[in-house]
Amino acid sequence: VHVFAIVPANAAQIARIHQRAARRRDVIALAGGLPCDELFPRIALAAAFARTSADEEALQYGWPEGMRALRAWIAERLAARGIAVAAEHVIVTAGAQQALALVAGALDVDRIAVGDATYPAALAAFARSGITAVTTGAPVRYVIAGVGNPHGVDVCDRSALDGEVVIDEAYTELRFDGRDDRLVPHDSERTWRIGTLSKTLCPGLRIGWLVPPPRHHARVVADKQAADLQTCSVAQSAAIRLLATIDYDALIARARSHYAARADRLATALRRACPELRFRDPEGGFSIWVETDETGDDVALLEAAIAAGVSLDPGCTFRCDGATSHVAFRLSYSHAAMCDLDEGPRRLARALAAWRRGPRPS
Ligand SMILES: Cc1ncc(COP(=O)(O)O)c(C=O)c1O
Repeated sequence: VHVFAIVPANAAQIARIHQRAARRRDVIALAGGLPCDELFPRIALAAAFARTSADEEALQYGWPEGMRALRAWIAERLAARGIAVAAEHVIVTAGAQQALALVAGALDVDRIAVGDATYPAALAAFARSGITAVTTGAPVRYVIAGVGNPHGVDVCDRSALDGEVVIDEAYTELRFDGRDDRLVPHDSERTWRIGTLSKTLCPGLRIGWLVPPPRHHARVVADKQAADLQTCSVAQSAAIRLLATIDYDALIARARSHYAARADRLATALRRACPELRFRDPEGGFSIWVETDETGDDVALLEAAIAAGVSLDPGCTFRCDGATSHVAFRLSYSHAAMCDLDEGPRRLARALAAWRRGPRPS
């Protein structure tokens, strides 16, 4: 059993490095994992928001569990994928991140099992509630289903899901093949299911959801109310209008092919520029997880990368022990300009060479 101290001690240092890099126009951002701005349905969103000012429900306080129509849409969407959930069991949250925080607050455990590398803000949410993330030997498991972050491929081991499970479906609908046949079943008594509109519509809406086991529902609604009363009425109302007017499946199909083309472009450039790196071709989502056989300081690698004009997310941020036995990092193709997906790996190759030489004597 590996028990670890939670969030990397150098998280603040890494955040500062990223903030400095983000201000520089000459740095190609392969860090961050933002969705592509071009895919935001701006015109439909503008129309949906324009109508909220005439809508009493959009401007008024609402129930902590969210608007009925949105909860019904979420339940229908899940049902279409074979997940039978009643609308009254759905809680609308401020993004999947708040859903994770609510789960962390409601779980009565001191450990949660996570993958070898996982979504850093989930680790932070668990840590904040005093739950230690471990790789094995915990009564609850957190999995990112369909497409893992940072892996970009399905790394969910279904044989390890016999206990209580927190299923994060942030990228599930963004599998490039559109297949959902590796669905993690919904046993309502032991499943906490999380989803979001952030990756398919836009993260600025801050609309996600949580379906807790029914016995936890009232407690989670009370926690949600204590945290922020309710998810923003204007955003919920706009989302309801938007989802009623657009073809959501067509939008997702477009996003899948858009991200698949980007993934292919980055993978091809990476293989050419850095043939020694190990990675799997993404099956969906926003990123490529790169592993090396090398040991060393991956924050130093981040510094070297930024000096060479490209950013990345160092592997330590995704590990529950905050450490890396072998250096790894995440590269995101979702937001950078297409031509930068060719140039980024060339800069990365220079950064790796500089990092391997080590710090120069001053
Ligand atoms: C796996 C995973 N879960 C949850 C989230 C949070 O998403 P949201 O914007 O819905 O809070 C993210 C965002 O990057 C994510 O990668």
